[in-house]
Amino acid sequence: MKVVILHHDLENSEKEMKRIIEGKYSSEVLLLDIRKTNFEEIEDFCPDLILNRVYASVANRDYCSVKKTLTLLKKLDESSLLIVNSYDASRSDYSKFFAFNLMNVVGINTPRSFLYGLNSDLEKTVKTLGDFPIIVKRDSGGRGKDLAKCNNFEELKQAIGVIESSEDYSGGIILQEFCEPLESYDYRVWVVGGEAILYHKRTLISLQEDEPAWLASRSLGSQILRADANIPLELKKFCETAAEAINSKFDVLDIIKTKNGFCVIEHNPTPNVRPEYKEILGFCVIEKLLEKIIERYGLEAEVNGE
Ligand SMILES: Nc1ncnc2c1ncn2[C@@H]1O[C@H](COP(=O)(O)OP(=O)(O)O)[C@@H](O)[C@H]1O
Ligand SMILES: [Mg+2]
Repeated sequence: MKVVILHHDLENSEKEMKRIIEGKYSSEVLLLDIRKTNFEEIEDFCPDLILNRVYASVANRDYCSVKKTLTLLKKLDESSLLIVNSYDASRSDYSKFFAFNLMNVVGINTPRSFLYGLNSDLEKTVKTLGDFPIIVKRDSGGRGKDLAKCNNFEELKQAIGVIESSEDYSGGIILQEFCEPLESYDYRVWVVGGEAILYHKRTLISLQEDEPAWLASRSLGSQILRADANIPLELKKFCETAAEAINSKFDVLDIIKTKNGFCVIEHNPTPNVRPEYKEILGFCVIEKLLEKIIERYGLEAEVNGE
């Protein structure tokens, strides 16, 4: 088996993927930096599998590379190569609004969203979304950057201004209805090849002293909680349908329980697989993922020593 891992700055997850693919499956791995590679280099290598690991959070510092990744994936989609994830799912990763539209078509419960523009009428938008609080975030990005919960027009304008004034970001800004979580944690559900295979929870935190906890983000201080029972069936089915809505082969969904049932906050087709997962969950998530991808997509890879 020959594998291409497309990446930006090399993080721990990709090094671990390479180590496992080379060690456990005696397979060849080519690490390609999106900033330096091109379609021809990938094609010349004749990979059986391409893993797109250019994180959505790259948009926080290098929006151009995210655009380049999408252009490359669009071209690769026309070939018969197996890509995890291909264009649609990766675009949903890099644009929360694109993902919202795909989910909306099939009726998946997710916060009502609005793409902000220069001529947007804020009063009308807030009315369309319901009322305050309104969530403001970068359409493209991650790790909680510039995420704000706004309680009035002043806070709303300020939150929009913060994103507008970031020089290295030229993506969109989205406004969302705030969906109140009923529990003190969220769910992260890992879906591979259409099947939810594992999940865990994260504690919710607040950004201001006087507000109830509402936000899950490891980068901002949430703790990972082990959920040792099997995935509840309703949650499993919900996530499998939501992953299908964005056409993903691999997806980690951020889910909360609200008064209207489960709600998709976000898709993460390129999750950062933090080293502490192994400790908390008791197994190597990356190893499990690769195993599932190889099995699900019928890749020929012998396990060393078997
Ligand atoms: N519309 C919303 N309603 C309620 N909570 C939200 C909403 N949007 C974001 N959050 C909370 O903020 C966290 C981070 O937002 P998210 O959209 O996942 O951005 P990021 O890409 O930075 O992870 C979510 O996991 C969720 O806990
Ligand atoms: Mg998130």
